[in-house]
Amino acid sequence: MNIKEPSINKEQQDILDGLISNQKTINPKYFYDHRGSKLFERITQLDEYYPTRTELTILNDYAQDIAQLFEPDSLIVEPGAGNCTKIEYLLEAVRPSIYVPQDVSEEFLQKSAQRLSGRYPWLKVHPIISDFSDPIELPENYQKFAKHVFYPGSTIGNFEPEDAVIFLKQMHKLVGSRGGMLLGVDLHKDNEILHAAYNDEKGITAEFNLNTLNHINQILEAGIDINQFEHHALYNSKQQRIEMYLRSKSLQQYTILGNTITFESGELIHTEHSYKYTLDGIAELAQKSGFTLQKSWLDEEELFSVSYLSA
Ligand code: AVJ
Repeated sequence: MNIKEPSINKEQQDILDGLISNQKTINPKYFYDHRGSKLFERITQLDEYYPTRTELTILNDYAQDIAQLFEPDSLIVEPGAGNCTKIEYLLEAVRPSIYVPQDVSEEFLQKSAQRLSGRYPWLKVHPIISDFSDPIELPENYQKFAKHVFYPGSTIGNFEPEDAVIFLKQMHKLVGSRGGMLLGVDLHKDNEILHAAYNDEKGITAEFNLNTLNHINQILEAGIDINQFEHHALYNSKQQRIEMYLRSKSLQQYTILGNTITFESGELIHTEHSYKYTLDGIAELAQKSGFTLQKSWLDEEELFSVSYLSA
């Protein structure tokens, strides 16, 4: 026999593994192609989506207070910094010596570094372009600075809690004994507010969720019909997490790179967990990873938190 199997690369295999498993799943990183990143930006401007604007209010209101906890002559690392807008709320107050934004997108980072250097001539900006999963390595001559990690946006909520601890342990290793971490975390709250934040009227979150199928179609050279799926998001208050899924509207079958994939009518593909924490939960995350929760700042309605963890 001489049947030519299509050759499958590692990324394709990873996605296929998720679609073949019993509970089908797509990694949330596949939300963020060009269109997905634009859609996320639109989400952050929605009335229902309180996290972004609330976090910015906290950073703006408490910048001076937050700055008190940063050691002088500090270096700030920001994993997944993107367009580096949030750090601008802190720069004048904290006055770090060096800012190290890390991201996969070279384009975003170069533009941001130029903007920051123009606005803050006293700041040394040292961008690191790398994959999120690669450990961040700082140059030897940076070891003398008091190192801090800035991780806003409740991005930590995308990790399973045990993986959040693994990530925080890595950050603890990165900052060493003298520094700390400033962590933005969305808080556990009323089902209604959370449900609305992930089920907005305009359907932008639905578009964002469905777009992940466009993205994987490109990678897999597949033709999954987006119109045959619908957005499904709920708050699981026992697990304290938003669960997002795509629900198949009919029985569907596709051949993707030589694999037969069937979606039953009503079957769910898991696309995201977004964990919400209490302040006790944040203290526990910190403690399990070698940090101490020093102080948390909240908005008036106690929707969102920014916390300083010291190493
Ligand atoms: C970027 C992971 C913080 O969980 O709220 C927004 C992503 N998903 N709406 C979040 C998201 C649906 C967002 N994070």
